[in-house]
Amino acid sequence: MRGIYYFWPRLLLRASKKYRSILHTFVFLSAGFGYCILLGSYAYSRHHQLARSRNINTTNSSTQNGAMQNTGSKTQKATISFKSGKVIQLVNNEPEDDGYDLEDLESELEGRRHRVWEVCVARGLNTEGKPNAWEFFIDPTHSLIWCNIFKAASSTWLYNFNLLGGYKEKYLRQSKKNPLVLARSNFPRPTIKQLQEALPKSLSFLIVREPFERLLSAYRNKIEGLPHRFYRKMGREIVAKYRKSNSPPNVINPTPTGPTFSEFVNYITDTAGSYKVTKFDEHWAPYYSFCTPCQVNFTVIAKLETLTRDQEYIIRRAGLENILKLSRHKDRPKMILNKARDGKNTNDLTRRYYGQLSKKQLKKLHYIYGLDFEMFGYNVTKYYEIVKEDT
Ligand SMILES: *[C@@H]1O[C@H](CO)[C@@H](O)[C@H](O)[C@H]1NC(C)=O
Ligand SMILES: *[C@@H]1O[C@H](CO)[C@@H](O)[C@H](O)[C@H]1NC(C)=O
Ligand SMILES: *[C@@H]1O[C@H](CO)[C@@H](O)[C@H](O)[C@H]1NC(C)=O
Ligand SMILES: *[C@@H]1O[C@H](CO)[C@@H](O)[C@H](O)[C@H]1NC(C)=O
Repeated sequence: MRGIYYFWPRLLLRASKKYRSILHTFVFLSAGFGYCILLGSYAYSRHHQLARSRNINTTNSSTQNGAMQNTGSKTQKATISFKSGKVIQLVNNEPEDDGYDLEDLESELEGRRHRVWEVCVARGLNTEGKPNAWEFFIDPTHSLIWCNIFKAASSTWLYNFNLLGGYKEKYLRQSKKNPLVLARSNFPRPTIKQLQEALPKSLSFLIVREPFERLLSAYRNKIEGLPHRFYRKMGREIVAKYRKSNSPPNVINPTPTGPTFSEFVNYITDTAGSYKVTKFDEHWAPYYSFCTPCQVNFTVIAKLETLTRDQEYIIRRAGLENILKLSRHKDRPKMILNKARDGKNTNDLTRRYYGQLSKKQLKKLHYIYGLDFEMFGYNVTKYYEIVKEDT
């Protein structure tokens, strides 16, 4: 506090003792006032700058919610009209660095859809099979459809669907109930027919992430150290089957209670056998078999790697800004947890765990998840540089 006094003009210091305290108060008040004005004008200009940079037109239009339609003309590039017709409000006033151009985003999303479809056709997957409706959430009220891929922002979207289902934030924060069970109480598993009927009227989406990162995430959350009762039995069986007495010592944990990553991978590749097998645990089932993107043309293929942006797009496109606030990282405790656990040193972790595999093991794994890599535009090359050479 004392330091402040040194900055006072001499004139003020010379003022008589009598008036000094009044002067103090006055200077403090005016400094505070000026600061407020500065902050306010910053927030205001930032708001407008962002709205401009996104080039978003909030005017109502007849655009149907589910239909992919870009109403932009040459002069109003990338114009999009959101269903709610509400003026866009930025919820967080923090300066952000993830501004993006809507037109670029839409053409990127179009590219993702195109890529999936190309792979479907190339592999002949477009003509066979039915959608795996079991894993979808359909919210007819808000015309929203989601295929829930575990370990890819699923807690965030279970939370969101619970909000859409009418649960209050406060309740969800305090409730000890399983969010999946809560969500299913409002959005039961649909039949194929229900899904097919809802699709043309809705915005449908799924969220994918780099397939081998997700696999590792599933292993670390469910298998390593056997943290989950449900997976304990499976874990012990894997150890019994794949641990050899002459196995090399494990570098990460010399005496693992659960399967090592290598043992887990052997289990997966052995049980899968063929890449068309669909009997996978939901935490590591390949996306193409779990969400059947060759049977369902998703409106938005979101990725964990661009989640904030993709999510915001989904929420705005569906006109749900008022229910699913656009709060970026706040109010999403679980998601932050997952990020801290997996996101931080992804490269390190990848090396540590995939470095335990042999090239042969990786090839088998690649055979199972290769379609996911291809369809969703991920690159597997680096893993071949990490694994051990076959001996
Ligand atoms: C927005 O669209 C709805 C119907 O979709 C209509 O009732 C409403 O009047 C429109 N609002 C504006 C501002 O155009
Ligand atoms: C926004 O879109 C509506 C029609 O969808 C159009 O009439 C209006 O001129 C547009 N406004 C701006 C600022 O682009
Ligand atoms: C998905 O889109 C493709 C190409 O646009 C189309 O040929 C195909 O019939 C669509 N599939 C479904 C299930 O709607
Ligand atoms: C993957 O990345 C490597 C370089 O790291 C590149 O040589 C290769 O062509 C890429 N593969 C695909 C399918 O894009």
